[in-house]
Order: sequence, then C-alpha cells, then structure tokens
Amino acid sequence: MANVTVIGAQWGDEGKGKIVDWLASRADCVVRFQGGHNAGHTLVVGDTTYKISLVPSGIVTGTLSIIGNGVVLDPWALKAELEKLAGQGVTVDRSNFAVADNCPLILPFHRDLDALRETAAGKGKIGTTGRGIGPAYEDKVGRRAIRVCDLAHLDDLDAQLDRLCAHHDALRAGFGEPPIDRAKLIEDLRGIADFVLQFAEPVWKRLRDVRKAGKRILFEGAQGVLLDVDHGTYPFVTSSNTVSGTVASGTGMGPNAAGFVLGIVKAYTTRVGSGPFPSELEDETGELLGKRGHEFGTVTARKRRCGWFDAVLVRQTCALSGVTGIALTKIDVLDGFETIKICTGYRLNGEIIDYLPAHAADQAAVEPVYEEMDGWEGTTVGARSWADLPAQAIKYIRRIEELIECPVASVSTSPERDDTILVRDPFEG
Ligand code: GDP
Ligand code: IMO
Ligand code: MG
Repeated sequence: MANVTVIGAQWGDEGKGKIVDWLASRADCVVRFQGGHNAGHTLVVGDTTYKISLVPSGIVTGTLSIIGNGVVLDPWALKAELEKLAGQGVTVDRSNFAVADNCPLILPFHRDLDALRETAAGKGKIGTTGRGIGPAYEDKVGRRAIRVCDLAHLDDLDAQLDRLCAHHDALRAGFGEPPIDRAKLIEDLRGIADFVLQFAEPVWKRLRDVRKAGKRILFEGAQGVLLDVDHGTYPFVTSSNTVSGTVASGTGMGPNAAGFVLGIVKAYTTRVGSGPFPSELEDETGELLGKRGHEFGTVTARKRRCGWFDAVLVRQTCALSGVTGIALTKIDVLDGFETIKICTGYRLNGEIIDYLPAHAADQAAVEPVYEEMDGWEGTTVGARSWADLPAQAIKYIRRIEELIECPVASVSTSPERDDTILVRDPFEG
C-alpha cells in the first residue's frame, strides 16, 4: 500500500503543512478530507513562504490537489486563496485541482453565527477561528446544507432555502439579528458559482481511477486528533472528525485507502483557543517556547498556548488514529534548554492515570506527572541526518518513541522543506 495519511496528533499546528509539502513531490495526488479554511498551514520553500488554509498543501509542488467531500467549503475563501497562490506563482487549473461536487458550502451567515455564539458565550467561548466551520457542519448533518453541486441549480433552490432560512432565521432572531437576505444570498452565489463549478466533479471517481492506476495518494489532515469532535477535548474541539479514519468517509474511498498513517507531532505542545491543556506552562518557560517556536496562529494570528511534551496525549492520539509512525517536528525549538520535561502520566483525585479521561471537568483537573531530562548543547537547526544531532537530542527522541509506543519516521529541524531527517519512508510502508 503506497498511500500515506498525514494527521495532526496534538491540537493542530504540528507542522503538517511542511511535512505534506515535503512528501508531495513523491505523491501523485494530495487530498484534503475534513475541516475547512480554519486550517492554517505554513510552508517554507527557499525564500518563499506559503500560507495555505483550504487547498491541499500539495498544490505548491504542482501535484494534483483534491478537496474531498468531507471538507466544508467557503467559495469566496477558495477564490481568495487561489488568487493569492497565483500571485506567488502557483498555477492552479483543472489539470491540478478538483473539488468534490458534494462538499457542503460555508455561507456568510455561518460565519455570522459562529461569531454571535462566541460573543454570547463570553468567558465560556470555544475560541473558534470564526470561519463558520461549526455552523456549516451542523447544517450538513441537519440535512439543510447547500452544496457545491447546488451552484449549478440556483434557480431551483427555493425549497432548500426555505428549510435553511427557517432554521437560521429563528437562531438569528434569538441574537436580535435580521433574517437572512435571500435575494442577496442568491445574487452572491450567482457571482461565485462559475468559479467553483469549473473545479467541481465527483472526485470519488477520479480517486478511484488514480488508485486503479496504482498511483500514490497523500491524504492531508487538518487540525489534530485532540480537536476531533468525538475523541478530542469536547466541547473545546472543532466540528469534524480529525482522526485518520475520516479519510474513508471524507473522500469516498474505502477505509483501506489510508495506507501509512503518519502522525505529525511537535516536540513540545501547543494549543490555540480555549480548553484543557494539562502540561501548559503559564510562566517564562512557556513564553520562551512560544518565542523560539514563533507560536502565533497562521489563521487568526492568536498567540498559541505552550507547554512541555505530553506523552500521555500522544500515546492516546496515536492509538485513536492507528498511527504507523510519527514525524517529530520543531525539535530545534528545544535547543538551549538546560532541562526538558516530559509529561508521562496524570494525577487525578489522588490516583495516577495513564490516559486523558472523557469528562471535561476531569480533563481540566488532571495534573501532569513529569520526568526530567538534560537538554543538549549545540544545535539541531537544519540537521538532515542523525549524525547531525547532539547525542542528548537523540536520547530525547528515543524516549518519546518509547513513551508513546510508536516509532519515529522522520524528524523536522527547521521550517524549511528539506531540513528533515528521514528515518523510514512512509511511501515505502
Ligand atoms: P500545521 O497547521 O500543522 O500545518 O502547522 P502550522 O503551519 O500552523 O504551524 C507550524 C509552524 O512551524 C509553521 O510556521 C512552520 O513553518 C513551522 N515549522 C514546521 N516544522 C518546523 C520545524 O521543524 N522547526 C521549526 N522551527 N519550525 C517548523
Ligand atoms: P491546523 O490545520 C489549531 C481550533 C480553534 C478552536 C477550535 C474550534 O492549522 O492545525 P473551529 O474554527 O474549527 O470551529 O475552532 O479548534 N482550531 C485549530 N487549532 N490548528 C488548526 O488547524 C485549527 N483549526 C481549528 O482554535 O480552539
Ligand atoms: Mg496550522
């Protein structure tokens, strides 16, 4: 099986974009299968930095890039992103880009509702990206969504709009907002329809053919397993399933398409938005990690919360996603620390536990149990082989492998595409 599935094994921003870009040149096709433009993936290639939210990161290498049906698609965000990429010299056309015709759309009132709810929640807010992701997924499972294929039938949308508006107008009234302006919505959709439709197709068919031809598919996950709507730190999660299993439902391929599951893991831990974070450091060390790691969100520019590596969480997410091997990223950010801690268990109500419990109050109450290791002298920045790493850094990596019960397939040592140590090629299984 030559396919590879990349997923985030923490709370997102693990460096998935860099790894997908690095692998993309050896793939025939890169596919997004969940999430939307809440993702923010930064790729550094030579002097150029690409910030990508919706389109698969493989687009930068010109690899066939596909948005699967599991993604919620904001048509205006798509246009803006493709225009930005064109400005950076990345050509996107029907030969290298396709969108599933059954993708649900994110519409302007989804974004409004996202913001209204967050504002109303005050301190209890989730800290969403404000992109309308949650409300769009609600409409999908509520069987009210407008989908990409509907853009070709805008004159026949009345009954669908009745259902959709009845639902949203009631919600909007509760927030003191006027009803949806249906005429404007249709006009706006008319303005964008052709742009989206030029890329629309039944992508499951294209993927079936790619597979039949024995080609390699790279599935690009967004967010991370701890933000999964079932398995994450609920309710402080996103509204999609971020685990590897979503490859099947989010693309129209069977579960055996996933291939090698590569979990992307940061050498420490970060999180954007609210919710429990057992190993969070609200002190100078946390500040230092954030500063050295440039931990600011790609999408919202929010400061990311930082903490030590939490092996309990990553062991759990690797199990939840059937991770075959991990790509450890940002090891270079730990250069220069005299000592480094790893969370190996939690204390809850006087007992030691080895997993994150499901209940939100328990998740907030667990206290990390740490082991401490010496840091290393010298630098890991830009290392491209084990021989370039200080011995103590290798010891840290080996200890992580042991604790999470999963082997390291690669180590990333800077934002730059080629500053990566390959241990085991995921495409070779
Ligand atoms: P993603 O959402 O998982 O794709 O990750 P983001 O792109 O949001 O955040 C990861 C950040 O770390 C980006 O700015 C990357 O350029 C950067 N990055 C990725 N790998 C490394 C690495 O090994 N070392 C350092 N210092 N930065 C990295
Ligand atoms: P990438 O792909 C980090 C977080 C938000 C918030 C929660 C819900 O770059 O790793 P949403 O807008 O999805 O309803 O917000 O999920 N979140 C992310 N955090 N990286 C991401 O994507 C994220 N996408 C959403 O901060 O806590
Ligand atoms: Mg990101």
